[in-house]
Amino acid sequence: MRVLFVCLGNICRSPTVEGVFRDIARREFPRLTVTADSAGTANYHVGEPPDRRAIAAARRRGYDLSMLRAREVDGSDFTEFDLLLAMDGDNLAALRARAPSEATARIGLFLQYAPDARRTDVPDPYYGAADGFDLVVDLAESGARGLLSALASYSSRAGSRPRSAPPPPNEEGVEDQTT
Ligand code: 4NP
Repeated sequence: MRVLFVCLGNICRSPTVEGVFRDIARREFPRLTVTADSAGTANYHVGEPPDRRAIAAARRRGYDLSMLRAREVDGSDFTEFDLLLAMDGDNLAALRARAPSEATARIGLFLQYAPDARRTDVPDPYYGAADGFDLVVDLAESGARGLLSALASYSSRAGSRPRSAPPPPNEEGVEDQTT
């Protein structure tokens, strides 16, 4: 199972989710075979490490993001990954608009896997206050645990190497939740 987390710049939200998801997968779901990456729908920060505020917020919670580097979403991502999960509705729309005709990946919102968060979007912390980065880590942990639980129950039903991504808990989105 290959999962790509997608935000705008790939320096705040999606690298935080990538780092948190990887650590929780390794520690809490050691039998699950899953790989994670992240990318941005914009190219403003390609090649850069995550924003220093994102690195600091993650480090306070025990996650190291310092080795990650930003990249832009590429057409091949739509076939290389099983699941593309956007951090907000704008990035979801951007992904859908860029999907090539041969795309095989499922595309959805990351927070569909964290229904208790009662949000559809991970708020963009880039221009906001420092505590916005702590909220990103909170939401990353909730969504990562929800997604990993969904992947674990899917893979135990389908065998250890499922051929397609599991549907999000709610295929139609989470319109009944506040943002
Ligand atoms: P991200 O945050 O999409 O979570 O990485 C942003 C990073 C950079 C910019 C906007 C959002 N920017 O405008 O440069």
